[in-house]
Amino acid sequence: MKSSKEYMQNLKLWLQDTADVPLEEMSDFFTNRLQDYEEHMAAWEKSYQMFAEIFPAACQSILDLGCGTGLELDKIWHKNPDIEVTGVDLCADMLARLLQKHQDKPLTTVCEDYFEYDFGYGKWDAVISFESLHHFLPERKRELYRKICGSLKDGGTFILGDYIACCDEEEELLRSVYLKKREQSAIPENCYVHFDIPLTLEHEKALLQDAGLTVEKVLDGEATIIMARKGTAPSLEG
Ligand SMILES: C[S@@+](CC[C@H](N)C(=O)[O-])C[C@H]1O[C@@H](n2cnc3c(N)ncnc32)[C@H](O)[C@@H]1O
Repeated sequence: MKSSKEYMQNLKLWLQDTADVPLEEMSDFFTNRLQDYEEHMAAWEKSYQMFAEIFPAACQSILDLGCGTGLELDKIWHKNPDIEVTGVDLCADMLARLLQKHQDKPLTTVCEDYFEYDFGYGKWDAVISFESLHHFLPERKRELYRKICGSLKDGGTFILGDYIACCDEEEELLRSVYLKKREQSAIPENCYVHFDIPLTLEHEKALLQDAGLTVEKVLDGEATIIMARKGTAPSLEG
């Protein structure tokens, strides 16, 4: 069980062992691992499946934040090949792989930072993100969740599949190590690095609610899946 004492002990040992490993810039990290990326992520297979199963079937247009090579999209398109997707990712090599896999699909890729990209207003049936947002501090996620809420249609859904901290101690420990590592290496504020800083479910839900979204479902698995809806219109059926 993730919340066990043993999990935290192992995490602390891992942080000690990797204390001298330098942080890598986000896009470089994924480019350097592209070859084995999908094999590595196979451990999350059931969560990708679950993500597609709860995805509202009537959605026509979706925005995927940090889509990478599109493992979540593989499953969603398997269910409904006509769904129009805009996938945003700052790693050009991950997007190239996605395009290569899905040449026949209604797909637009945007090689940009999702904090900077204009999502539009009242535009999407669903915004999704899988295993990307746990690399950012809550201060940044707060503004992003507000932007997501504004960009959804009334009744639209944000579906987040992500790494969730098992307890406050995990969240606080990873945050402090992340900030210390950045400081030690004098990493400029505007440079994204690959390091996991997940929030607890309680804190993740609070940010979503603060942004104007209503959390409707939480599914636990290898990744935690949170469904949050905008407004009062009936949701599109799953
Ligand atoms: C672990 S991968 C997940 C990819 C895909 N969603 C999946 O589950 O296979 C995280 C992705 O988020 C992207 N990413 C991280 N920060 C980003 C940002 N600020 N803007 C756009 N993409 C970002 C990375 O480049 C990477 O492709």
